[in-house]
Amino acid sequence: VKIYIPLDSGSVALGADDVAKAIAAEAIKRGEDVQIVRNGSFGMYWLEPMVEVEASRGRLAYGPVAVEDVDSLFDAGFLNGGDHKRFLGHTQDIPFLKAQTRLTFQRCGIIDPVSLDDYRANDGLKGLENALGMTSEDIVKAVTDSGLRGRGGAGFPTGIKWNTVRQAPGDQKYIVCNADEGDSGTFADRMIMEGEPFVLIEGMIIAGLATGATKGYVYTRSEYPDAIRIMNEAIEVARANKLLGPKVLGSDYAFDMEVRMGAGAYVCGEETSLLNSMEGKRGVVRAKPPLPALEGFMGRPTVVNNVISLCSVPVILEKGAEYYRDFGMGRSRGTIPIQIAGNVKHGGLYETAFGLTLGEIVDQIGGGTASGRPVKAVQVGGPLGAYFPRELFDTPFDYEAFAKADGLIGHAGVVVFDDSVDMMKQARFAMEFCAIESCGKCTPCRIGSTRGTEVVDKIARGEDPEMQKELLTDLCETMKFGSLCALGGFTPYPVMSALTHFPDDFKPHALDIA
Ligand code: NAI
Ligand code: SF4
Repeated sequence: VKIYIPLDSGSVALGADDVAKAIAAEAIKRGEDVQIVRNGSFGMYWLEPMVEVEASRGRLAYGPVAVEDVDSLFDAGFLNGGDHKRFLGHTQDIPFLKAQTRLTFQRCGIIDPVSLDDYRANDGLKGLENALGMTSEDIVKAVTDSGLRGRGGAGFPTGIKWNTVRQAPGDQKYIVCNADEGDSGTFADRMIMEGEPFVLIEGMIIAGLATGATKGYVYTRSEYPDAIRIMNEAIEVARANKLLGPKVLGSDYAFDMEVRMGAGAYVCGEETSLLNSMEGKRGVVRAKPPLPALEGFMGRPTVVNNVISLCSVPVILEKGAEYYRDFGMGRSRGTIPIQIAGNVKHGGLYETAFGLTLGEIVDQIGGGTASGRPVKAVQVGGPLGAYFPRELFDTPFDYEAFAKADGLIGHAGVVVFDDSVDMMKQARFAMEFCAIESCGKCTPCRIGSTRGTEVVDKIARGEDPEMQKELLTDLCETMKFGSLCALGGFTPYPVMSALTHFPDDFKPHALDIA
């Protein structure tokens, strides 16, 4: 009997390795013939470790499984889909999963992450096979027509970026995958690298074909050891199967790639700082222009794309631009993997077409807070994203709608807070985070963030709070318009949204800071 137990770091943190060992030992003890496959997670973290069995009536799920449950699972005949208090039914019928539109994550959780046979058997490589028969111009056109925009946060049209690199002169071009996922509450990049690494490899090869690049790099953080190990293993398998190397799938096209590890500075997720880090320099932001598309890694034309942008490409080349574009709303086309985290009942990854309202995401899909207390605020888009109060829960998940509400989607991380949160403390945290992570290149960010922290402290101490609030607003304006990159430029989003939507919290009181 085939048993699936996730190997991704989220599930392992919840005990998946111990559960796998316990099931293997119990199977030997009982003389049961089982084959344990370590798959990626489906992203329903409140149910992890989720164990699946391939029973005669399909893949059936049990979760969350603890080591103490293993004995009773065998007693209940779970290898044949027997009933048990952890029984969840058919995996694909679990409402959280069933209601999703999984285009990018379509195989994540289903396959053995490092089995290229599994990947192929589930329609993997079809996009690349199509792309190998197309001109670079047509590949770029398909990506442009699909409406795909950068999923790292800025939402820049991927096809336009690729076209700039395609047309740039240069004998050597690069594809750099930005996997330096630093936003709080986000884990989509990690989940797909650990659960379906071949889709990223496929997307990077297609990007290379489209632009004339022959070398790719995945830049990720040292905090992601499992993703690094699994990506490296998948790259080896891809080389052994001639998916990477001098003749990609037997064609005349050469492409190879490797993983580079950063030391974990938040600002190294900013593309020019990332390129400096890859070149062995200090991770300081470079002024743009020149754009990396023209002068990127080692001064050569370089595509820098987020993991999810690249992983969304294979399905576009497989099924066509129109298929992808038909999902979504306005100028936000296709699907987006929303990561629901924080104080929430059903935390996890939910891939869906753009357009759900924030309220639907938090109250219905997320199920409200884990504490059972009322939701007070939701931060969308990482530590540089705005806090939304319940009055703005009708905002649809769409780049433009969020910008109109003085917020941003960013990398689609949604962090939920209940009514015990102190929003002035959150504003202080944003300024402090910026002060710690600032690369120090420009004054509004380097000095402004430290002054911002002090100003919040003065409000807390009751030192002319009304004037301090004016100062804080003024400082935010300066940081927004005077900073070189998004770290200094976007820190005003969480600060100003906290001040605007939760003014009652900005009164003198002791800030509970450790
Ligand atoms: P940006 O708006 O400066 O640039 C977006 C992208 O478009 C860049 O790759 C840029 O090089 C490219 N581009 C612009 N004009 C182009 C042209 N004419 N041709 C080709 N390429 C062109 O935004 P930036 O600074 O790259 O990213 C900011 C975003 O990063 C924020 O919105 C924030 O949400 C997000 N972010 C994401 C994090 C994560 O963990 N994923 C962490 C921190 C911030
Ligand atoms: Fe560096 Fe901050 Fe300026 Fe960005 S805004 S370049 S992180 S000092």
